[in-house]
Amino acid sequence: MAEHKSIAAKVTYRETGASDRAHVRALQASVYDSAMAGVCEALISSPAETLSLVAELDGEVIGHILLTPVTGPDRTLALAPHAVLPAWRDMQIGTELVRHALKLARDRGWRSVFVYGQPDYYRRFGFRSRTADCADVSWQGPRFLALELEAGALARWSGPLDYPEAYLAVARAKN
Ligand SMILES: CC(C)(COP(=O)(O)OP(=O)(O)OC[C@H]1O[C@@H](n2cnc3c(N)ncnc32)[C@H](O)[C@@H]1OP(=O)(O)O)[C@@H](O)C(=O)NCCC(=O)NCCS
Repeated sequence: MAEHKSIAAKVTYRETGASDRAHVRALQASVYDSAMAGVCEALISSPAETLSLVAELDGEVIGHILLTPVTGPDRTLALAPHAVLPAWRDMQIGTELVRHALKLARDRGWRSVFVYGQPDYYRRFGFRSRTADCADVSWQGPRFLALELEAGALARWSGPLDYPEAYLAVARAKN
């Protein structure tokens, strides 16, 4: 555990730069698959205001998180994918990636975030399934969560969420 803490203390978190693209692609391909890696690459290089952060240790990209604008409520993002290489898991690196990403999103004026994932994991950041009930999507359920970055951002909204097509194509292929 002490070793984990000293490793975690050396990890840095920053926005993805052009020189990270190949590393992010390799990481996402190894944790997910090449389709997800391709979607990430396309979204990161798209003109949309995508937020992409890496966790770096000794010059190596060991984690990555992506938040992509979706059409629905004002200034909302979808969080996915979120990945840490297996050798570096359970050291709070995934948690720090989410914390840094949410801070950046707030700083840039984003008002809410949706995620489809493990409820127990994302609850620690304040994501709740009931907060996402307002979204009319076919994957509604306990694994679909939302977080208001600005109080009340989702309070008076309900309707569909329009994700980038590439994103949906990968999700469909997996289900
Ligand atoms: C999910 C992921 C990014 C977490 O990264 P990580 O650096 O290992 O996570 P952290 O060290 O910050 O957090 C570890 C904690 O999360 C818990 N946790 C990890 N994976 C979990 C999961 N799938 N469901 C619920 N809890 C989980 C651990 O038990 C641990 O709990 P604790 O803090 O109470 O001890 C990583 O496991 C991963 O890349 N998984 C494969 C891809 C994936 O499933 N991504 C999420 C898509 S929704």
